This record gives sequence, structure tokens and C-alpha cells, in this order.
Amino acid sequence: MKRRIGILTSGGDCPGLNATIRGAAKACYQLFGTDDVEIIGINDGYSGLINNECKEMKPSDFSGILTRGGTIFGTKRTPYKKMLVIEEDNVDKVKAMKDTYKKQKLDCLLTLGGNGTHKTANLLSQEGLNVIGLPKTIDNDIYGTSVTFGFHTAVDIATDVIDRLHSTADSHDRIMVVEIMGNKAGLLTLYSGIAGGADMIVLPEIPFDIDKLAEACEKRAKNGKAFSILAVAEGAFDTEEAKLKKKERARLRAERGETTASNRIAKEIQAKTGMETRVCVPGHMLRGGSPSAYDRVLATKFGVRAAQLIKEEKFGYTVAMVKENVTENKLIDIAGKPKLVPDDHQLILTARDMGISFGD
Ligand code: F6P
Repeated sequence: MKRRIGILTSGGDCPGLNATIRGAAKACYQLFGTDDVEIIGINDGYSGLINNECKEMKPSDFSGILTRGGTIFGTKRTPYKKMLVIEEDNVDKVKAMKDTYKKQKLDCLLTLGGNGTHKTANLLSQEGLNVIGLPKTIDNDIYGTSVTFGFHTAVDIATDVIDRLHSTADSHDRIMVVEIMGNKAGLLTLYSGIAGGADMIVLPEIPFDIDKLAEACEKRAKNGKAFSILAVAEGAFDTEEAKLKKKERARLRAERGETTASNRIAKEIQAKTGMETRVCVPGHMLRGGSPSAYDRVLATKFGVRAAQLIKEEKFGYTVAMVKENVTENKLIDIAGKPKLVPDDHQLILTARDMGISFGD
């Protein structure tokens, strides 16, 4: 029997997607025999599955992509909450995805993505498709796995940014606010903040008090350090905003003409301390380029585990790292449960014990 395996990448891209695709594809050819497996690349995530944009791949398509950033299949955000909604185009998206799966005679679908991708993967699995997820995101916020591919590369890039900001902050006696991606989860900011030696770390999980941040800058200045580096997660909010519902918070931000808190933090610290401040936003640079050695190894291990799961006919799962072992979790158990940074996370305690301020 010739197996047909569909692969798609959905949501925001990150380094390591191609390395994972390569790991899964090469292991499929190895485990089933090149003549007994057909890999179907699906364009632009679930959008390609809805619109039947698929292509039969050759083994050579998976060569030379280990180090390549982005995704050879392209990706798109197709929000989960819209999957069950019929919009103006009148397309029943879930039915369309099931139709493509049937038309393409797929035996299984690999979905590489983050939280939204996993929710739709679970939905398709509940609808009877053979789905296997692979956890991707620079945010590392997927429940049930200690790590996702893309995370450590982004940590390396963000750390390099913070390293470089140190010398210029020092030369000018400035406060540098560096905004790091992560809307709901602050793990990327926490890791890179620690790795880059940030003096203050501001996370979405710990609402900040601007006075506390300003005091921390002043305290450093009094102790002879006329510059400070603040690593601020893009989703950070203050203690007043924390009292509001998400929608009210967004409305308030829109009224103030801001999206993230970084510029306000910089402005208010300057006003309160008299110290000059600057903001640096590396943004999508954190998602670009070649995966780190760590992520190449992780992606390869995850991809190969996905191929093994196909062989074991173990569907409705997503690959995960638990206690340093590659394993899998049921999609239904993890979908829709983001992994946030708990107050007692070891790195939070480590940071507090060395005097890093979280602005709380
Ligand atoms: O989920 C990954 C992520 O990089 C978040 O950290 C960030 O908020 C978001 O994607 C940005 O996505 P977009 O590609 O839509 O700008």
C-alpha cells in the first residue's frame, strides 16, 4: 500500500520549520521505502487545505533545506475561531478541508504550528482525519511540551540584540527598552533577558508598575550604573490595565494610539527619572533566518518522531518533549491550553534572587 502523507505549516513562521519537514520526510522515505510513500505539500497552511492547493513532492525537494529559514510550503494565519464560521465566500471550511483530504487520498496529515494550528488540528482529528501535530513557535507556549522548535533560535537572536544594546546604552548612559515578541507568553523575553543580562524583565504574566521600573533604574544609577536594559515582552501590560478585560484594554490602547507598552514605558521612565531612554524592536528578525544547531537537532528529532507515529498508526497526537524525552500528547489534551510562565518558574526565582526587577 502506498501511503499518502500531507504536510502543512500554519500560523507565524519560525526557524526550524524546514528542518522539521525534512526530518519527517526523510524518515518517512526510510521507514516506508521511497516507492511506498508519497508526500503531498500543502500551500499556505489550512488555507491550502481548504482550497486544495497541493503538490506531490519528490525526495530531492527535502534536500538542502535543513538550514533554510521560513517554510518551503508557505504559511498563513487562518484563525481557529473562523473555522466554524461561514463567511461571505460561503465556504464551509471544515467540509472543504475534509474534501481535500479525501480528494488527495491522504492517509495522514502533519500539521506544523502553534496554538491556533493545534486547535484546528484537534478539530480535524475529532472529525475523523488522521492528524499528527508538530509544535512550532518562538513563544514556546504550547502546553505539554517543555520546548517548541524555533524558540531557542529566537532566544539566541534576542540575546544578541540585548548584548549589542549594552555597549551603546553604556556609552550614552541611556535606558534601553527592548521589545521582544510574545503576546500572551513571556518565556522568550524571560530566557533572552536572563541570557542577555537585562536589568529588568517585563512579562505579560506579571503586570508591571511603572514606578517600580523607574525606581529600579534609579537604584542602578545610584549604585554607579548609569544605564539599564529593560527586556519587555510585546504583550506586557501594567497593573491598571490588568484590571481591564482584554477588549477594554485594547480599546484603551487604541485611544492612546499605542499597540504595545514599550514606548509608554520608555517615555514614563524618562519623565520620572530624567534619564534618556530609547526603544528597540527587533520584531520579525526574531523569526527570520537559519535555525540554531539546537533547533536543527530538535526539529529533526520531532520530525522523525512524527514519521514513527505514522508507522505506529498513532493519530490524534502531537509530538512533544517531556523530561528531555521526545514523546507525544493527545491533541485533545493540549489544544486550546496555552503554556504561560508560572510565578514560581525556576528562572523567575533565579532572576529575583539576583536582583532583576519584574516591575511588580
Ligand atoms: O506566535 C508567534 C509570534 O511571533 C508572536 O510572538 C507574535 O505576537 C506574533 O507571532 C506576530 O505575528 P505576525 O506574523 O502576525 O506579525
